[in-house]
Amino acid sequence: MTQDELKQAVAKKAIEYVPAGTIVGVGTGSTANYFIDELAKIKHKIEGTVASSEASAERLRGHGIEVMDLNSVGNIEVYVDGADESTRHLHLVKGGGGALTREKIVAAASKTFVCIADESKLVGRLGAFPLPIEVIPMARSYVARQLVKLGGEPVLREGFTTDNGNVILDVHNLDIMDPVELETQLDHIVGTVTNGLFARRPADVLLLGTSKGVEVLE
Ligand code: A5P
Repeated sequence: MTQDELKQAVAKKAIEYVPAGTIVGVGTGSTANYFIDELAKIKHKIEGTVASSEASAERLRGHGIEVMDLNSVGNIEVYVDGADESTRHLHLVKGGGGALTREKIVAAASKTFVCIADESKLVGRLGAFPLPIEVIPMARSYVARQLVKLGGEPVLREGFTTDNGNVILDVHNLDIMDPVELETQLDHIVGTVTNGLFARRPADVLLLGTSKGVEVLE
């Protein structure tokens, strides 16, 4: 199976986690896009969606699916999104698409977070994928210096502005031994908006696309 077929398979499987008549949180990226396309097939069964990016909102609307403001809905039953890396503990690195802040907000507001990914995303230890950090533009250099002190090599994502008007530093060479501790530490650097570690609120379920079928990790 190709990587795209594996992504499609997990997107299809995720539909089983969508309760009828509820509002669905929708992530961002190529795997989430497949999920949006699957969601379109059952759009009459859900009340609406909350999107984690402008790009996903546009794709959802393109399918005639209602996109709601998080402030006008209560808690979300289920949030479905991809990841750049996941461990077997369901600690994630996200933000390769730059939507990490809205993704973390929607994940926080959701009862169940279903992560969908092909098997290439499963790792023993997080950090080979550079960790994205959304930063207020005026704090860029200050935050970068603090990241260097932590042993990272921050690289500005050139020509990229987030949906929130901020910049992204992709941090290479971080030794992520304790994702919960590092997530907290990074959150304390003034000027950062969000870091791409999803460890304090990990996924609840990981649907992993493998050549043998979809593996369910909980
Ligand atoms: C978006 O900001 C990311 O967190 C995505 O969830 C992540 O990059 C996964 O993307 P793919 O599904 O395209 O690999």
